[in-house]
Amino acid sequence: MDLEKLLTDRLAPAFATVAGEPVDPVVRRSQRADFQSDAALALARRIGRPPRAVATEVLEHAELADLCSAAEVSGPGFLNLTVADEALAGLVSALAADPRLGVPEAAAPETVVVDYSAPNVAKEMHVGHLRSTVIGDAAARLLEWLGHRVLRANHLGDWGTPFGMLIEHLADLGEAEAAQELSMGDLDSFYKAARAKFDADEAFRERSRLWVVALQGGDPATLRLWRLLVEQSERYFLTVYDLLDVTLTQQDFQGESSYNDLLGPVVEELDRLGLLRESDGAACVFPPGSMGRDGEPLPLIVRKSDGGYGYPATDLAAIRHRTGTLGATRLLYVVGLPQRRHFEMVYAAAAQAGWLAPPARAEHVGFGSILGPDGRMLRSRAGGSVKLVGLLEEAVARATALARERNPELDEAEAAEVGRAVGIGAIKYADLSSDRHKDYVLDWERMLSLDGNTAPYLQYAYSRIRSIFRRAGVAARPEAGVLLAEPAERALAVELVGFGAVVGAVAENLEFHHLTGYLSRLAAAFSAFYERCPVLRADEPVRESRLVLCDLTARVLGQGLHLLGIRTPERL
Ligand code: ARG
Repeated sequence: MDLEKLLTDRLAPAFATVAGEPVDPVVRRSQRADFQSDAALALARRIGRPPRAVATEVLEHAELADLCSAAEVSGPGFLNLTVADEALAGLVSALAADPRLGVPEAAAPETVVVDYSAPNVAKEMHVGHLRSTVIGDAAARLLEWLGHRVLRANHLGDWGTPFGMLIEHLADLGEAEAAQELSMGDLDSFYKAARAKFDADEAFRERSRLWVVALQGGDPATLRLWRLLVEQSERYFLTVYDLLDVTLTQQDFQGESSYNDLLGPVVEELDRLGLLRESDGAACVFPPGSMGRDGEPLPLIVRKSDGGYGYPATDLAAIRHRTGTLGATRLLYVVGLPQRRHFEMVYAAAAQAGWLAPPARAEHVGFGSILGPDGRMLRSRAGGSVKLVGLLEEAVARATALARERNPELDEAEAAEVGRAVGIGAIKYADLSSDRHKDYVLDWERMLSLDGNTAPYLQYAYSRIRSIFRRAGVAARPEAGVLLAEPAERALAVELVGFGAVVGAVAENLEFHHLTGYLSRLAAAFSAFYERCPVLRADEPVRESRLVLCDLTARVLGQGLHLLGIRTPERL
């Protein structure tokens, strides 16, 4: 049980008594005391009484004696709460004995679909796909750890009119040559070459159009060529996932094309429900709530005027499949913020059609862009989009060089291993530690720094603790329990017991910067503790208690980083 929750449970009845109705005490960590509640201020405003008087009255009604050593009204009407040492020691001892580190399994496990990564066939993955892949994978890992049934859906862009030109280009190059080019991850030049021919050559365009017709008609020979493009691209994406340490596999590819057979029925059903309207020859839904600048409702085109289906139709079919067939109740879409309107409209249309009815709900886990040092969209030197693998390779190379420099004792293989864990970890952490709703600047120096809110800092803290045990040849006995005497020990304990609350909140809001912020505070509290409190040189029973604190810190850091998909090497 975490402290926020314990204190909330004690304060809530007192607030209710004073207010005559339920009030959320909003207990937060504080600089002044261990925790603070500012709910008396808002309540006082509402009931028109002086805030300090309200706060004092709440304290009179709250049963805090066994939990807090001090509970005071401060400033304009804050409640400052200091947790009693014995209570804290009891909580941290219980935590040490808990394999789940104070994070309970979900009381009501759900089937959750996490739609993420979703690159496009025969096109290079770009930095937007990096964000989706990293954030989505963290979401999948976290929800799985909480006991949910997580279905990873890699909604690959593997269908549509561009395939006409791609197949024609493939036929032009020869299959072997094309496969070779694609398997090397040269997706961009393949796509660009196809595009260039398409733009320049009328005959090429005509042949491309014929391929599209053949593909949509299900012609087996054409489908074979299309599959070749898809397979080569998938193979390449899997190498990227492997380098990135993400959990996506071959089984998770659930491309747009896999919904083809469902598109007709989706449109028929929308029609039957009376939701379709014709607009310029296209069949559209006008979901409530989405208006254009002119105040007119915006159309969601489910069937184009040429009879083809596009992106919205596929997403509607996917929702119907995910809730109806897969039985999912939580649908997450980890896609950049520019697609927000698309998803709002798709969710609203799906709700109208009855495919997204409570308890099922969909959430757009949107994110901003990665910017270059100049504060603009990240671009390559040539001005093109940055190739994702290039970015990852650079991270690994930089981290490997730093690892060699810092620790000349590492042999070649160890340095490569550390470089990979730290480089990839740094990239992922830089992404997850910035508020996903915002853009962030890619800054190599900062993300690879051993100080601050970075992966290397946390990985270093982890490996340092592990080395305490390795060097001394001892193990912690979690069942020995914890004693708290020094302020630095207490401060560490307060952080440790906060893991559950943070994980619980992040499972809801999928804002991973709260988890990274927590982990870096924990590592900082550990450093302060380790500086001030001798561990191996302490007398018993303090030594044993401190070893338990060390071990618990490493376990929480390790688990936290694991949830983010970041490796924790034993030595750096
Ligand atoms: N392939 C799309 C892109 O690269 C992302 C797909 C996101 N998922 C979805 N269900 N629409 O932008």
